[in-house]
Amino acid sequence: MRMIDIIEKKRDGYELTTEEIQFFIKGYTDGTIPDYQASALLMAIYFQGMNHRERKDLTMSMVHSGDQVDLSKIEGIKVDKHSTGGVGDTTTLVLGPLVASVGVPVAKMSGRGLGHTGGTIDKLESFPGFHVELTKDEFIQLVNEQKIAVVGQSGNLTPADKKLYALRDVTGTVNSIPLIASSIMSKKIAAGADCIVLDVKVGSGAFMKNVADAKELAETMVEIGNSVGRKTMAVISDMDQPLGFAIGNALEVKEAIATLKGTGPQDLTELCLTLGSQMVYLAKKAESVDEARQMLISAIQSGKALEKMKSFITSQGGDATCIDDLEKLPQAKYKIELPAKASGWIEKMMADKIGLAAMQLGAGRETKESKIDLAVGIVLNKKVGDPIEQGESILTIYSNSENIEEVKNLLYHSIKISHSKISPPPLIHEIIS
Ligand code: URA
Ligand code: CA
Repeated sequence: MRMIDIIEKKRDGYELTTEEIQFFIKGYTDGTIPDYQASALLMAIYFQGMNHRERKDLTMSMVHSGDQVDLSKIEGIKVDKHSTGGVGDTTTLVLGPLVASVGVPVAKMSGRGLGHTGGTIDKLESFPGFHVELTKDEFIQLVNEQKIAVVGQSGNLTPADKKLYALRDVTGTVNSIPLIASSIMSKKIAAGADCIVLDVKVGSGAFMKNVADAKELAETMVEIGNSVGRKTMAVISDMDQPLGFAIGNALEVKEAIATLKGTGPQDLTELCLTLGSQMVYLAKKAESVDEARQMLISAIQSGKALEKMKSFITSQGGDATCIDDLEKLPQAKYKIELPAKASGWIEKMMADKIGLAAMQLGAGRETKESKIDLAVGIVLNKKVGDPIEQGESILTIYSNSENIEEVKNLLYHSIKISHSKISPPPLIHEIIS
């Protein structure tokens, strides 16, 4: 088989065979196919697309390019949740303890963040002492005892995706639905869960800028998952403005604690209940999605969900007394308000730019090597659709430096105030199963 023939075939719009896709992934992973040929094929896929069978073959070839996690020693149906990425997305911190508290095993392999704020592990490290260095046996034992554990990424999962994603990043081929879908699904499948719940974001802070594209991506991923025996569902949710109020690591931890207490932001709470009820239903802990939702609401009201957060943090060495005494979490030196320059209604809060502002404060990494500041970030006092008076604070900046003119400017440019009434945008666009 020759790579040049595979490139020409896809360039001309033909379907690739299973063997051709496997040949490409294997050869690119082991280095026998060079970057320039892989780039040409990616560009051909970008323009010509792939049918369902090709997408499934591409996904499974990437799964088989490295190790697969074996979660079979964990009792029950393992459900994983994945978000396609957003700004101030605190859902994982809430959902883990929430669904674990009703008996769904959460075996979470997580990473550190790149970009606007840290990843789940960075956020959890706001609890002094919390660590994710667990052996495989400790991890499995913790999930069986606690129903939840978070471990750092280890082993050699989907090396083909790592190489391809880096190549796509510099060849203008990131934004292709078959390539994004196979990239995400290969990682989820290799991570070992039985069922997958996807949160596909749409809007200025997301890969997919409109609902039609987000829907196509969601349907493609659901189809891939279901066709390889992993029951998959997807929610399409808004990421035109940040989710919840908080953007920043310790600030998001506080927001997650409030949400588990039942006093969190309305949008974050609603999204967690929507995604969580799908997770509980797929794990067969409820007969219907509605019943699952009721179980989650009860777990919040009874305090069971918050108790689970405490025992989870304690079991991984963290100081859970922070949950009752939020002052013990990392605190920023300065709290600076951003006053509105006009009266009216909030029309836009661009998630991507606000994320960038949070990163400039130190909440996120510019490069993999950057150190992040867990205390800093932004808390929104208003959301799209809210009325505002001139001089009233739109948001509060938590900073360890007083010199933040640039950040303030960026924030002013990310917010638009309208003279006429604006209605709040829908949070959930569609549910796909
Ligand atoms: N996230 C991924 O993991 N892969 C993509 O291709 C895009 C987003
Ligand atoms: Ca948030």
